[in-house]
Formats: sequence, C-alpha cells, structure tokens
Amino acid sequence: MEADSRKALVIVVILWMKLIPAVFSVTDPNDLAILIEFKKGLENAELLKWPANDDDPCGSPSWQYVYCVGNRVTQIQAKNLGLKGSLPKDFNKLSMLSNVGLQNNDFTGMLPSFSGLSELKYAYLDYNNFDSIPADFFDGLDNLQVLALDYNPLNATSGWSLPDTLQNSAQLANLSLMSSNLVGPLPDFLGTMSSLVVLKLAFNRISGAIPLNFSESNLQILWLNGQEDGGMTGAIDVLAAMASLTSVWLHGNQFSGKIPGNIGDLASLKELNLNSNNLVGFIPSSLVNMDLDMLDLSNNHFMGPIPDFKTNASYSSNAFCQPTPGVPCAPEVMALLDFLDGINYPSKLVSSWSGNDPCGGKWFGLTCNSNQQVIIINLPNYGLNGTLSPSIAMLDSVTKIILSNNNITGTIPSNWTSLKSLTLLNLSGNNLSPPLPTFRKGVNVLTNNNPILNSNPASGSPSSPTASSQSSSSGSSSPTAASIPSQTSENQSSKRSKLLPIIASIASIGVLVLMLAPLSIYFCKRRKDAFQAPSSVVIHPRDPSNPDNVVKIVVAANNPTGSASIQSGSASAGSSQMGESHVIEAGNLVVSVQVLRNVTNNFSPENELGHGGFGVVYKGELDDGTQIAVKRMEAGLMSSKALNEFQAEIAVLSKVRHRHLVSLLGYSIEGLERILVYEYMPQGALSKHLFHWKSLKLDPLSWKKRLNIALDVARGMEYLHSLAHQSFIHRDLKSSNILLGDDFRAKVSDFGLVKLAPDGEKSVVTRLAGTFGYLAPEYAVTGKITTKSDVFSFGVVLMELLTGLMALDEDRPEEMQYLAAWFWKIKSNKEKLMAAIDPALDVKEETYESIATIAELAGHCTAREPSQRPDMGHVVNVMVPLVEKWKPLDNDTEEYSGIDYSLPLNQMVKGWQEAEGKDASYIELADTQGSIPARPIGFAESFTSADGR
Ligand SMILES: *[C@@H]1O[C@H](CO)[C@@H](O)[C@H](O)[C@H]1NC(C)=O
Ligand SMILES: *[C@@H]1O[C@H](CO)[C@@H](O)[C@H](O)[C@H]1NC(C)=O
Ligand SMILES: *[C@@H]1O[C@H](CO)[C@@H](O)[C@H](O)[C@H]1NC(C)=O
Ligand SMILES: *[C@@H]1O[C@H](CO)[C@@H](O)[C@H](O)[C@H]1NC(C)=O
Ligand SMILES: *[C@@H]1O[C@H](CO)[C@@H](O)[C@H](O)[C@H]1NC(C)=O
Repeated sequence: MEADSRKALVIVVILWMKLIPAVFSVTDPNDLAILIEFKKGLENAELLKWPANDDDPCGSPSWQYVYCVGNRVTQIQAKNLGLKGSLPKDFNKLSMLSNVGLQNNDFTGMLPSFSGLSELKYAYLDYNNFDSIPADFFDGLDNLQVLALDYNPLNATSGWSLPDTLQNSAQLANLSLMSSNLVGPLPDFLGTMSSLVVLKLAFNRISGAIPLNFSESNLQILWLNGQEDGGMTGAIDVLAAMASLTSVWLHGNQFSGKIPGNIGDLASLKELNLNSNNLVGFIPSSLVNMDLDMLDLSNNHFMGPIPDFKTNASYSSNAFCQPTPGVPCAPEVMALLDFLDGINYPSKLVSSWSGNDPCGGKWFGLTCNSNQQVIIINLPNYGLNGTLSPSIAMLDSVTKIILSNNNITGTIPSNWTSLKSLTLLNLSGNNLSPPLPTFRKGVNVLTNNNPILNSNPASGSPSSPTASSQSSSSGSSSPTAASIPSQTSENQSSKRSKLLPIIASIASIGVLVLMLAPLSIYFCKRRKDAFQAPSSVVIHPRDPSNPDNVVKIVVAANNPTGSASIQSGSASAGSSQMGESHVIEAGNLVVSVQVLRNVTNNFSPENELGHGGFGVVYKGELDDGTQIAVKRMEAGLMSSKALNEFQAEIAVLSKVRHRHLVSLLGYSIEGLERILVYEYMPQGALSKHLFHWKSLKLDPLSWKKRLNIALDVARGMEYLHSLAHQSFIHRDLKSSNILLGDDFRAKVSDFGLVKLAPDGEKSVVTRLAGTFGYLAPEYAVTGKITTKSDVFSFGVVLMELLTGLMALDEDRPEEMQYLAAWFWKIKSNKEKLMAAIDPALDVKEETYESIATIAELAGHCTAREPSQRPDMGHVVNVMVPLVEKWKPLDNDTEEYSGIDYSLPLNQMVKGWQEAEGKDASYIELADTQGSIPARPIGFAESFTSADGR
C-alpha cells in the first residue's frame, strides 16, 4: 500500500518533471499568432524555413531566426535575407520583444507602430523599403537603446519629424535615421537626451540650425551631412561645447559663420568634415594643432593663410590668400581681412575678397592707385553690422573710407587717427558709440545719424575742429566741411550711380540669376574664344507685371545678324528671336528646341560629334561663335520610365558640379524631344588622342599631359564618389568618356549610367551596363556595383595611358586581348613594363619613376577584390606629387585657369570677369546662397534614387 502509493508518487513526479517543460515551452498563443501573421505577410516566406505544421516557435529547437525566453518571443533576427512583404499591423503585440533585426531586406508598406514595446532595446529596420511610419511609432519605448531606420523612403512626400515622445526613451544611445525623409528643424530635445551618443541623420531634409542645447549633450557621433532642399543653416559654434564628440560630419549643408576658436577643446575629436558649406573666416589655430584622422574644409569661404595643419587636411576651393600652407598673406590683406571679420563677413565681400591682391580688380568696394595700394574703401548702404577693426590703421595709403548708412556698432578705433593719407571718413547713419577719436585737421569726419555717438558729444573731443562738423548733418557751418561737401557728394553720387544698378539688380534678381550664371558665364567665355566680345551684358530684373516669374539676361552681341536666342521658361515654347540678343530666362536652364535646331543646322549629320548609347551628340555654334555640344535622345528609345529618369537625373545631378566633370548648360523638354546641352570640349575624347592620333594627324600626348589628364579624371571621380552630397557611381568610365579641352585638361563626361550609391559601403545590384574591357570582375559577374567598380575602370584607363593600347582589342594576340589581364602579367617586371610603354612616349630615366608609380597604381586599382582597390582620394594623393614635379610651384594657377566650377558661383563669376576683362565687371551677384541647378548630366539609363540593393 505504502509502497504503491510511493510508486505512484514517483511516477507522478517523473511525469510532472517530463511534462512541465513541455507545457512551459508551448509558445504564448498571442506571440504565435503574430509570427504566423508575419509569415503570411511575406511573399517569400519560404526563406525563413519555418516548419509548416509546427505551432511552437519557442519549442526546442525554436524556429529559425526566432528567439524566446520561456514561452515568449523576445527576438526576431532575420537580416539580409531578401524578405519581401509587409509587417503585421499589430506587431507590437509581441510585447516581450527586446531585439528585432530586420535590416537589409525588402520590407515595404507602412511600418507597424512599435508603441508600447516597453522591453524593446534594439530595433534595426534600416535598409528596407518601408514607405511610412505611424505617428505613434515611438510611444512608450521605455527601454530603447538603439534604433536604426536608415534608408527607408518613409513618408516621402510630406516627410516626417521625430515626435516629442521619443524623449521618454531615456536610454536611447544610438539613433540612426539616415536617408529617411526627416524634415523640419532638429528637435531641441535631442540635445537634452543625456544617453544619446550616436546621432546619424545624414541625407534627410532637415533644415535650420543645430539647437543650442546640443551643448549639453554627450554625443560622440553627429552626422548631419547632405541635407536636401538647401540644407542646414546657422552657426556651428555649439560644437565647441560638445566635449564628447569624436566624429562630426556636416558636409553638404549651408552652415555659416566661423569655425569656433575653441574647437581645439574637443579632445576626443577625430573626424571633422565641413566640406561644402558657407563657412567663413580664418582657420583657428586651435584646429590647426588638433590630431585628427580626417579634416575636410574644402568648398567653403575660408580666408587668410593656409595653416600648416598638424594632420592631413583637405581645404581646396576656399578663399585663402596663398596656395601654399604656411605662407602668410600680405599685411595689407590681413588688415582688410580683419576688417571683414569685424563686419561679420558679408557674403558679397567674402566671395570677392579672395587671394592676395586687393588691387587685382576683384575685391569689391575697394579702389587702388597705380602703385597697387588701396586708397578708397567704399561700402555705403551695405547693411553692414559688426564693428570697425583697428587693423585698418595700417593702410597708410587710404584716403577715403565711406561706410555711411550701415548698421555698424562699437567705437571708431582710436588708431585710425594715424591714417596719414585720410581725407574723408564717412560713418554717418550707423550705430557707433563714443568716444570719437580726434582726427588731424583736413580729415572730413562725418558721423551724423549715429544716435548714441551724437547724443553724447561730451565724450567726444569738443576742442577738435572736426567735432562740430561731425555732429552737424549738413556740415555747412564749418569751413572745412563747407569746402568738402560738394566734393564728397559728387564723389558719393558718382559712386552711388555705379553701385545702385548693381545693388538693385542683386536685390531683385537674387537667387534666380545665380542659376543662370553658368550659362551666361560660359557663353561669355566662349565668345572671347571666338574673338567676338559681347558689347554688353545686361541683367534685367524680374518684371513684376510678368506673371511667369521670369528673369531675363540679355547678352547683346556685336554681331547684328540675328543671332540665336536662348529662351525658356513656362512662357517660351518655340522660338523667340530677339534681334541680336540672347535671352536666357532663369528659373531653370530650359532651352528651346528651335534654338538648338538652328544652331545645329537642324541636327545635320555634318554637325555630329558622335553617337552615345542613347542619342547623337551634335556640335552647335551660336552666331557669335559660342560652341556647344547638344545631345539629343532618340525618340525611339524613350519609355515613360526613361522620361522620368531624364528629369530625375537633372534634379539629382544638380548637386554634382566639378571642374573635372563636363558641365550641363541647359536642356530641352518639348514634345518628344529630350535634349541636353553641354559645354563643348574642343579636343574631343581622350581615346582619339591615344589610339587614333596617327590617322587623325594629331600629336601624341606627352607623358606630362597624360599625367595631368589622369589626375583630372581622378579628381572628378573622387568628387563623384565622395565629395558630392551623395555618392555617385559613374559605371562607364573609359577613355572615350574623358573629354579634353584646348589646354588638354580633362573632364569626365557621359553620366548616362550614373547610379546613386545608397552609402559608401553598400553595393547596388544593377542591370549590367558599361563597357567590356573596363568592367570590374565582380560587376561583370554579379552585377553588384560599388564605387570600387569605377576605380577598376580608372585603373584600366591608366593602363591605356601607359601603353597606348585599347582596353579590349580582339585583333591583338589572345593573351593580350584584355589589356588589364595582360598588364597584370607584365607590370612587375621592369623590362617587360618598359617594353609595353606606348612607343609614342619618349621615356627617359627621369620619367621612369613616375611611369612605374602609375603602373603600380594601375595594378592597385584593378585588384581582384574590390576591398583591395584604393579609393579615389588615395589615387589623387598618389598622383598629386607626380604632377607637381612637372610644374613650378607658383604655376599652380594652371589648374585654376578659366572657370573653376568647383568654386562658389560668385567666385566663378569673378574668375570669368577677370578672364574677360574689367568691362563686364558691373555684373555682380549677390550672395552664395544659390547653387547651380544642373551640372553634368546624361541620359538616364536606369538611374533611380532608392532602388534595391
Ligand atoms: C506618415 O504618413 C502616414 C500616412 O500618410 C501618417 O498617418 C503618419 O502620421 C505620418 N507619420 C508621421 C510621423 O508624421
Ligand atoms: C552604436 O553606434 C556606434 C557607432 O556607430 C557603434 O560602434 C555601436 O556598435 C552602436 N551600438 C549598437 C548597439 O549598435
Ligand atoms: C550681420 O552681417 C552678416 C553679414 O552680412 C549677416 O550674416 C548677419 O546676419 C548680420 N547680423 C545681423 C544681426 O543683422
Ligand atoms: C539695423 O539693424 C536693425 C536691427 O538689428 C534693423 O532693424 C535695421 O533695419 C537695420 N538697419 C539697416 C539700415 O540695415
Ligand atoms: C592699431 O591697433 C591694433 C590693435 O589695437 C594694432 O594691432 C595695430 O598694430 C594698430 N595699428 C597701428 C598702425 O597703429
């Protein structure tokens, strides 16, 4: 009995022990239901390999990619599987979920709300195609530590912004929302979330400034680069207070102001990218001494000397006074730059006061004497604020300083009284404070309409004879003043009459005109080449009675025989001859088809320059000699997709502009016509000069020219890959797409296959395109393309430059047909390499070194593994010293001759004016806010901005 009952008990216990785990492992039915829904929502659920007749995902073994604690699902880890479909709406019923990894799939549709997932710590949803995010997504994510939603086209049309509820996620450390359509300002609360250390919000549409309370944050990584629709604005002073920063990427925005002087306080900082903003001023010395891995200051308006940076820095396309680090500016230049600093760098002065020669005719507001000394500073009515710099006192030759009717504050520096040539100081109509220093006799000091200064005459110097004229607005009571006013007013009115039209046109034309400038610049530049200088260039401000929001630039040519007009805008279908004028309307770069028909002789075959994959390129010549290249898409090749891509490409590539990329001058969209207008490159394709020079009776390219061409191409590609606001992949780099100007400097062309890279590392799978012989192996095999595929093609171009052999030539012996394969076999053997060098090159021992370097580089670029190839930045670094060897240092201007398209627009205009002579200098453009709308461009083959990976 007792034994039996004991037996029974043992059995019960054993049963119980066996049973209980089984009972406990049966998955919570609610969780099961969501997983089943999850599976149902997928088009390719088979990829999950979830068993069909098993309803216990938490069982043993659990379903693949599912992790449980007890009977509750806590994790789903299914990244990189190519899953297609949408997530269940009630996904947040998986209430114990702590970690979800669904990144890099093809999920579409609306993201489910995650609200209430209070256990959730990690959520990786990046690299999918979710197209919207519910407003309550972030509610109640109390334990959230990491959230990644990058590269999802969320709420694309209207954009979206981070809701306030996110600040309740008090443990949030990593927030990564790159390229996910965030709009509006950066929320203040991000600055006060003390847990936050990584904030990656690049490539959105965020506007406005970095909130000041970011100074309280503990952020280490702050990536705000590449905001669309203009970009972020405001000063970057707050950075200097963010002591934990290690990586700051702000490139491709419109941040302004100076680099804070105490930036050196950021002891942990390793990366600072400020490329392509509107930053001004001197480089602070505290930055110069920082030990950084990356510092990029290019494409801003930094001034003064280039410092000797402690680490490698990029700083091209700024307004430095000297091309060489460590070389000081002329003292006069430093004094004027101090003055500029005092008045807070008004954009127009910033854009013209570059270089080391204030008397070269470029510096706005200054007049010089024949000894190249500044004699007049003339900036009345200029909206200047800030204070007056004492440094001006060293400009001994200055006779007149006219700064009337501005908003200048502070005192008049006392050492200005030592200006020994000064005769007129007109500071009337400002907000200056006493004391008024005592100037010597003979200086006409005008300070009327300075409320604070004049209300307190006691603090001035009443004994000074000029003091009385200072407080009298007419000045007629003082003999000195009486004799001078007529002079002064004459001087002023003549200045004014020159200035007013400029200012008027600046004010009224504004940004719209900026968009036009490249075209007008270009035309004017070309016109010079054709020995037909324009008789005048007039910018007509917008006619307020004209509803079409149209700005006209009329370029009156010397040639009176009805030259072509380029006309556009909504108002313009068809031709619009305007006598001897070119009418170019701003707002876009639309050119009428009729004009292009006229200038290409109705697209006549004699004018053909070549055939591209998508159309024919014609040479066009305006009546004044302006040459253009016109690429006409063949109507038969156009699908509606192609048409959309044509337009998308114009929009997207507007961000790409560089002196080594062929520039777009205009385009036509009328009926079935899709036409692009480029600058004309007179020497044509590189391939012609490498492979066909004999038959075309050309001179072979010298090694020096080849090196220059290679560097130009490398720079253009570097820009495409990493310096443009987004990363672009060319996909069809080859010597026939490299065009040469009359100076044999090169530009990359044919952007028809350009792809937007989703980010630097990721590869894009595309339809195979490109040209055999140049294709990287991984691209040819898998269709996966990265910027490294372009690097491969570049390496092949280097081999062509070295050998004069085409990338692929089936007429060569079999082992030599593929240049890249053959070159690899011979490149390491000096004798074989020398034997392979283009016989057209006269190789001397002194050239051998650079030939060997380029051969090695060509090999490096064509490494089998993409990861082993260098990036284009490295390529540029390797080549720069080789090219520099060939030219004296001060001949650096070679590279900057002509129009430097990488410069801010108004600097380009200045460059053009210089090239064209001073008579055109009355065109002044207001500021740098506008950017050039459309640059190099081609027919879109398969460009899309957010396609698959
Ligand atoms: C995104 O769009 C959806 C649908 O249009 C809308 O319901 C939702 O509130 C938007 N999300 C945010 C965060 O504004
Ligand atoms: C947070 O971001 C940093 C920097 O990108 C990264 O190193 C770290 O692994 C991230 N943390 C998590 C948990 O993803
Ligand atoms: C002062 O002048 C600078 C340069 O023109 C301008 O950017 C800034 O907005 C001005 N500040 C004020 C307060 O007007
Ligand atoms: C001077 O500045 C004040 C405010 O800063 C502004 O209201 C005023 O319009 C400015 N005056 C001029 C002439 O620019
Ligand atoms: C004027 O004063 C400034 C600073 O107060 C000084 O740097 C500069 O050398 C002085 N210039 C002259 C000519 O006295």
